[in-house]
Amino acid sequence: MLPTIEWQSDGVVMVDQRKLPAREVYVRCRTAPEVARAIKTMVIRGAPAIGVAAAMGIALGMQRSKAKGTRAYTVEFNRICDLMAATRPTAVNLFWAIERMKRALAEGVQAGESVDELTARLVAEAQRIHDEDVANCRALGAHGAVVVPDGARILTHCNAGALATAGYGTALGVIRAAAERGKVAQVYADETRPFLQGARLTAWELVRDEIPTTVITESMAGPLMRQQGIDFIVVGADRIAANGDVANKVGTYTVAVLAREHGIPFYVAAPLSTIDLGTPDGSHIPIEQRDAREVSHLGSVQLAPDGAGIWNPAFDVTPAALVTGIITERGIARAPYTDSLRQLFEGAPALA
Ligand code: MRU
Repeated sequence: MLPTIEWQSDGVVMVDQRKLPAREVYVRCRTAPEVARAIKTMVIRGAPAIGVAAAMGIALGMQRSKAKGTRAYTVEFNRICDLMAATRPTAVNLFWAIERMKRALAEGVQAGESVDELTARLVAEAQRIHDEDVANCRALGAHGAVVVPDGARILTHCNAGALATAGYGTALGVIRAAAERGKVAQVYADETRPFLQGARLTAWELVRDEIPTTVITESMAGPLMRQQGIDFIVVGADRIAANGDVANKVGTYTVAVLAREHGIPFYVAAPLSTIDLGTPDGSHIPIEQRDAREVSHLGSVQLAPDGAGIWNPAFDVTPAALVTGIITERGIARAPYTDSLRQLFEGAPALA
């Protein structure tokens, strides 16, 4: 499995996703601010992966803490949580992971643990978040594989793979599980302008797994559906609102509209940690705006003239009405999502 992020005794190690596919370089973060910077600068990206990174960053920060008593320890902990929360606004997994770390600390404090015991508890919780994410991806992959038709030509957008999670992936988890069952004829990876997660990362992962992969630019998705045929579409998500509206990488909405026009099933694959029942619908999801230079330039090459305005939202919202089903580790939710998403959580620990 791909080594997206790993806890080691002297730091958190992650593959630098900005350098793939040309170079496989590993970055070792030794402090919490280094982890926060890695999230902000996209060394690590993808909703579940940045949740895991934030949890490990908090554990790392507290491992370095010099605080002697619980009070000073908690002040420092909250400061590091705030640092992590300020990295990227859209993926709810980040905030979900921070909340889990806060709950873990509160339980330890309640039990009267020493600062060393609290740190051991936080390290264990961060590793648990990591391991659970891999297990969830495998479980949702198995659920999703059931609805992939035999001989499927599949389209995906952005990278919702092993690199975007602790391992195996969400959308790519479904594709991997379907491929393991011999159901996949071809995967089409949208290039995903401007950060190129599809061309650089999704294609890299699938080629490594020897799954037949073709890269297209976003503008080719429509003619591809019309002329060659696509049987199944699966994408990941950064935040799913209580009514089933889905925030994901910008361009997802366009794919969903095209899918509706061509009668192609459009599935979203995400763990429960991506579902935010506290957000009623997509209009309340904060959308990250990124640096204009990502659009105006490609590396050092200038694409747009000085003086041109640039709009660069990192994500868009696909209305629930365009979503065929939401594939999770507990099964596939279908419309009406307000009921089905809530049912997924029944009997589970409260999210927030
Ligand atoms: O800006 P990014 O690369 O973090 O955006 C990633 C996506 O939009 C993914 O599709 C999403 O996080 C799901 S990852 C399993």
